[in-house]
Amino acid sequence: MRDNKTILIEKTAIVLAEKGVTLSQTETAALFEKPSDPKLGDLALPCFKLAKTLRQAPPKIASDLAPLFEGTEGIARIEAVGGYLNFFYDSASCLSVVEEILQNDRYGSSDVGTGKTVCLDFSSPNIAKRFHLGHLGTTVIGNAIRNLFDFCGYKTVAINHLGDWGTQFGKLIYAYKHWSSKEQVEQGGIDELVRLYVTFCNQEAEDDALKQAARDAFHLLEEGDAESLEIWEYFKEISLREYQKTYDLLGITFDSYNGEAFFSDKMPAVVDEIRSKGLLELDNGASVVRLDEENMPPCLILKSDGSTLYPSRDIAAAIWRKNEYDFEKCVYVTSAGQSLHFAQWFSVVRRMGYEWADGLVHVPYGTMSVGGEKLASRTGNVVLLDDLLAEAVRKCGAVIEEKHPDLDNKAQIAEAVGVGAVVFNALANNRIKDSDFNWEDALSFEGNAGPYVQYTYARSASILRKGGEPAGDNTGYEPCAEETALVGKLAEFPETVARALAEYEPSIVSRYLLAVCALFNQFYHNCRILNAEGASRIFRIKLAAATHTVIGNGLDLLGIRRTEEI
Ligand code: ARG
Repeated sequence: MRDNKTILIEKTAIVLAEKGVTLSQTETAALFEKPSDPKLGDLALPCFKLAKTLRQAPPKIASDLAPLFEGTEGIARIEAVGGYLNFFYDSASCLSVVEEILQNDRYGSSDVGTGKTVCLDFSSPNIAKRFHLGHLGTTVIGNAIRNLFDFCGYKTVAINHLGDWGTQFGKLIYAYKHWSSKEQVEQGGIDELVRLYVTFCNQEAEDDALKQAARDAFHLLEEGDAESLEIWEYFKEISLREYQKTYDLLGITFDSYNGEAFFSDKMPAVVDEIRSKGLLELDNGASVVRLDEENMPPCLILKSDGSTLYPSRDIAAAIWRKNEYDFEKCVYVTSAGQSLHFAQWFSVVRRMGYEWADGLVHVPYGTMSVGGEKLASRTGNVVLLDDLLAEAVRKCGAVIEEKHPDLDNKAQIAEAVGVGAVVFNALANNRIKDSDFNWEDALSFEGNAGPYVQYTYARSASILRKGGEPAGDNTGYEPCAEETALVGKLAEFPETVARALAEYEPSIVSRYLLAVCALFNQFYHNCRILNAEGASRIFRIKLAAATHTVIGNGLDLLGIRRTEEI
């Protein structure tokens, strides 16, 4: 069933077209407003913006348009008031939306993706380095987009394209052999690897022989030297062991950890292919593909010493994935700083004659900071993701301890809410915008934050625990303004999911959830639920159940744990 708002938008586009005003769906949608007072209607069309084109006064436009909407599905009444056209949803459509949600735990899902595969390349940290706040965006945005694809019926392949190859591993292997030991790495974990790397970088600045030693060490690794491979495998194992803890906490899983190294032996064939297609040119000793026509700098394929680079590995990986998974789309989630890199190598794949290059999608996001400080691994003041999550859990634990000391499972709830707060915060704004992490905003139980959504979800769950089965006959019940407003919002969920997916924008879901929560809390505060009577009680419990389904599904999509109790 389509929601009333969508129906109205479509109808309005038709009505306006008859009047000679052609607007797109989005432009038409933008004309609508939610009346500040629900008594004025469920949705309003202010006619002021139309006055210029139609050369009429807004009140006249409103009264002329009103009759054209007669008989619109789901609309009980239309009133022209001043320059506004106010629409009132009919109660039968309200009741049937709720019934529809109750019959479908996966309300909001669709099967548009059936039979199609989508690869999602996200998180993808560089091993032997700490997981810091800079990885939060790719990890949670990527996971949410993956969930959206799953929810819409696609088969998804979540790929952690580990940064596990390159000359830095020559440095690390050298440093490990000379300045460390298995015991030290076992004890210190990634911190010890970072120490080795930093030590090496400091020393090589003054020692050219060391630079050469690192190149030699990497060369050995590339040649498949058994000892080097073993050490490298060990670095990878140590790193993944630590990352896994973070992924477990976030509830994120991957279908593949084939990173850059996996593609190293697939490189020569790809480079040959680029060359045989006449695309490779020499540029100061390096081999590049020129992208003058696309107005981009050349894409680097081989360094002057013949070794492959980040873009060449990405090209090889895309070709391999296309063969392996036959993807419809391959989506890459990284910081906006890598936008040029992706645009460049996507063009190379297109130039190679692969039409499927159109299915390669880069999803960039802005930088995140804490207290205004940018977080790059080079700056030194790195905020580690583990520390941030642990602190969030601790702070939420303290609030829960204070507010609800006798809850069972306090530790589990604090973990769900603390981690959820960090995730929600990272998904709350348009991904491309730079954002600043602030404890007070992120942890709020009242404001626009994760804990507020989880708290509202738990509140709906508590109504269901106390109120019993959401069942019974409420035919003919006339919902009040708070109820209609909430139902109208719930009905927008399927369309919201579709839009979030089309735009690769999880914040569309998070903002939508905040709106549902606000309306649910108005309903909760203004309407008696458990001690209402007859059809009213039946409907209200059903409405709480429908809200529980929608918020629950929304939290699932964002990758935030549901908590039935807070
Ligand atoms: N390892 C890279 C980084 O940390 C991200 C990899 C993104 N995926 C890709 N296929 N390039 O910056």
